[in-house]
Amino acid sequence: MTDWKALARPSLRDLVPYHPGLTRDELKERLGLDDLEPLNWNEDLFGPPQEALDAAAAELRNAAFYPERAYADFRDAAAGALGVPPECVIPAHGAQSLVAALAATFLEPGRTAVVPAVTYGLYAHVSAAAGARVVQTPVPGLHLDLEALAARARSEAANVVWVCDPNNPTGSLVEPDAWTTFLAGLPPGCVAVADEAYMDFAEPEARADRLRDVVEGRPVVVIRSFSKVFGLAGLRLGVAIADPAVARLLDVVQEPFNVNRAALAAGRAAVGLDGFLTRRRAEVAEARDALREALTRHGLVSHPSHANFVLVELGVDDGPVCEALLARGVLVRPGESVSMPGTARITVAPTPLMERVAAMVAEEVGRAK
Ligand SMILES: Cc1ncc(COP(=O)(O)O)c(C=O)c1O
Repeated sequence: MTDWKALARPSLRDLVPYHPGLTRDELKERLGLDDLEPLNWNEDLFGPPQEALDAAAAELRNAAFYPERAYADFRDAAAGALGVPPECVIPAHGAQSLVAALAATFLEPGRTAVVPAVTYGLYAHVSAAAGARVVQTPVPGLHLDLEALAARARSEAANVVWVCDPNNPTGSLVEPDAWTTFLAGLPPGCVAVADEAYMDFAEPEARADRLRDVVEGRPVVVIRSFSKVFGLAGLRLGVAIADPAVARLLDVVQEPFNVNRAALAAGRAAVGLDGFLTRRRAEVAEARDALREALTRHGLVSHPSHANFVLVELGVDDGPVCEALLARGVLVRPGESVSMPGTARITVAPTPLMERVAAMVAEEVGRAK
């Protein structure tokens, strides 16, 4: 028998693959459910813009051809919408693929990545897979401690610091001033990668302006996703916004034509929609407030969020509560699986569902006490 593990790069040998668990269809079948509300992955539950779906469908007629021009068209449209030069925009098949490509670009054995202890799990995973040493910093009070991150980056002579803003799973937002101080405090040779997958849900005036940092030549790479606010998770589309020199490096690491035509067409249509982001941000914020208010009415504490999810304190073991909710047709993310035991992360959906879910969470917590 071939020992494949021994043949693999040593940095991969002890890593376990991400297991999304049973599919939603399998869960429905196993539990005898007609419906399952998918509130566990922070997908969009408000519906992607019809224009994006129409554009994707129309583009299928060109399926026989590599997406040559489509790439440039999407990049130009995204750059225009973001207000950055097109050569700073790097398309990819999802933010996840950019996270992996950036790790492959800046990390290798002998290098170090700094990661907050409570954040999106992929950063530590891809950093370790690249062979880097991964150093974690605590996340006190559910807010990223950027001062501690920069201090750790200095003391460890780190090459990459991963910052998720708004942070998953907490929903907290980095203050613009804290970001500026953080950048100034990074050691030479260190790249700050800011994953802004949820940034479109945050109020524009509250955000750190990292696109400006990129254009001004600071060591910052920004990642955005089309899976969340634009509702295109199934098409897989994301962009990095970075210095053109990073674009060239990513072109070495990423395979050519790695985004499909349907995704590029949908993305181009989505970024061109007048007022969509503002409307969707307001809709999600209203439903998010409704969820938090309902949880409060039921005696549960939840955390302020700038994203399309809310972290709620259960005060009991999250596993059994999430299992009980699942049995009732509501799939939420158990806190244990995102380094926040005793909590649950709930994706924001239209208000009537939020009201029902808050009541169900409270009932199950009551039962578990
Ligand atoms: C912080 C963060 N980044 C990236 C992603 C994945 O984005 P994409 O679907 O564009 O790969 C997620 C998905 O949940 C996420 O939470």
